Formats: sequence, C-alpha cells, structure tokens
Amino acid sequence: MKILVVYYSLEGNTRALARRMAKQLKADVLEIRTVKTYPDDRDVLLGLGQQEVKTGYIPQLQPYRVDLDKYDAILLGSPVWWSTFAPAMKSFMKGKNWAGRKVYPFVTNGGTLGHTPSDFRKALKGAEVAPVLSVYFEDRIQQTEESDIKEWLSLIG
Ligand SMILES: Cc1cc2nc3c(=O)[nH]c(=O)nc-3n(C[C@H](O)[C@H](O)[C@H](O)COP(=O)(O)O)c2cc1C
Repeated sequence: MKILVVYYSLEGNTRALARRMAKQLKADVLEIRTVKTYPDDRDVLLGLGQQEVKTGYIPQLQPYRVDLDKYDAILLGSPVWWSTFAPAMKSFMKGKNWAGRKVYPFVTNGGTLGHTPSDFRKALKGAEVAPVLSVYFEDRIQQTEESDIKEWLSLIG
C-alpha cells in the first residue's frame, strides 16, 4: 500500500507530527510551503490569519511535484487557523480531483477545532474522507495521547 503524507506547518507542530506519522507508515512526505512569508510577531500573524480565513484567501504555494494517482491513501495535515485548516492547505486541495481517493485529514490546534472537519469534507469533493484526527498542543507540547494517534493511524489500510 502506497501512502502519502502532505502537510503544511508554520510553527512546527504539524511538521513534527506529520514526519513521525510518515515514518511509522513508511509513507512518502510532501511539505507544502507558501511563496510569501508570514510575520514573526504572533499578534500580527493571528490578525493576518484571521483576515485570510475570513476572505477565503488562497496563497500561492512554492512549486511541488506530486502524482496523487500513485497513492492508495493520502494524509493531509494542517494547523487549525481560525476554526478551519490553514489557507495553504486550502491552496493544495483546490483544483485537484479528489473523487474516489481515500483521504485522512489531521490537524494540530490549541483546543478549538471549529468547523475544520466539515470544511475538509467540502473541500475534498468525492473523496472518501476519514474522521479528522485532532492533535491538541499547549505551549508547543503535545497534549493528545500517542495511543489516540495510533488508533487513528490504524484506520489506514
Ligand atoms: C493564525 C492562527 C490561527 C489559529 N487559530 C486557531 C484556532 O482557531 N483554534 C485553535 O485551537 N488553535 C488555533 N491556532 C493555534 C494553532 O492551530 C496551533 O498552534 C498549531 O499547532 C500550529 O501548527 P504549526 O506549528 O504546525 O504551524 C492558530 C494559530 C495561528 C497562527
């Protein structure tokens, strides 16, 4: 079974989780990055992120190559930004044919998932979308039990 882990991470939480999962699954990994950079100041970042989510902004991604047809399962990882996935993940999902694909979304967050799961289902039209794994961080420390992550990973197959 060929598995791909695609993730976006601005501050590292989702990156660490995605890489760990990819290792466990022996999966290929694709990190997506935006062309533009985000401000270091967290308050400025939060405000900008809110504005981007509100307006449905779709940032340009740095070039990447991927052939989704090669994979039996695709994991999509993103931080939660203002109760949904980050704009960069929106960019990745947009314009691709998801019909018939098995997709396993996972998110890291500070405790508020909001409408992220239904937004994934809407964005991944026609895909078989697994329940979203939500991994909760507090001060960059993972609070969600490893056993919960393992259980979710066991859905893949
Ligand atoms: C712009 C922005 C908006 C955020 N909005 C939320 C939110 O709505 N709910 C939540 O629980 N955490 C929110 N967070 C916290 C992140 O989801 C959390 O820190 C995540 O683990 C960051 O992932 P990363 O380190 O991979 O970038 C937000 C963070 C940022 C930067």
